[in-house]
Amino acid sequence: MNFKAAYMVLIWLIQTNSISAENLLYFEQNDYVVKYHHIHVDFSDPGFVEFFELKNVKPNRTYKAFSARFHLLTDIEDNKNFKTNVKAFRLRTNSVEHLLFQFNIDVCQCLRKNTFGMGQVLSAGNITTCPIKKGYYYAKNFIMDDRRMPPHVPGGNYKILITLMKDKITLTITSLYIDVIYKLKH
Ligand SMILES: *[C@@H]1O[C@H](CO)[C@@H](O)[C@H](O)[C@H]1NC(C)=O
Ligand SMILES: *[C@@H]1O[C@H](CO)[C@@H](O)[C@H](O)[C@H]1NC(C)=O
Repeated sequence: MNFKAAYMVLIWLIQTNSISAENLLYFEQNDYVVKYHHIHVDFSDPGFVEFFELKNVKPNRTYKAFSARFHLLTDIEDNKNFKTNVKAFRLRTNSVEHLLFQFNIDVCQCLRKNTFGMGQVLSAGNITTCPIKKGYYYAKNFIMDDRRMPPHVPGGNYKILITLMKDKITLTITSLYIDVIYKLKH
């Protein structure tokens, strides 16, 4: 079975509730590293955030991180209404995008359970808890932990489209360009 087929089975198992989406919050892998190229806010609902800045920063030669600043006009609640939809498109040399997999996760659960190593956001600035009350926030020089990414993802170039939604209404869309690079086996 190839990787795409394996992921289709995984997604089908989640959609049919054969395995709990909770399990998805505990990714662990140590076979590849992620190289982050570019992050871009494609859309933000002006009724939700007045201002949303997300960028790559490179405090020194070996360290690549992200910084974020935003002014929330609405609380991000800790419930199932606030979802993040994550779509992984594999990029080919002929620039055709190919949707490899997608899933939805709760925003607060993702931060709390450190899914994708996102938990670091909570110690990088003044977003310290979830739910997040409306207000001005920043998170500086945070990294995502490669070891908390999904296992068995095929190596290559990806565009990750991250859509924050409340009750199916799109609040923000962010795209992140990455390379998945497998470590050499000894
Ligand atoms: C690079 O910067 C990060 C974050 O400030 C720091 O943790 C790390 O030790 C630095 N590495 C070097 C080689 O200076
Ligand atoms: C977060 O920090 C910024 C910059 O210091 C400050 O303006 C803002 O009020 C802080 N937000 C909260 C909710 O404490």
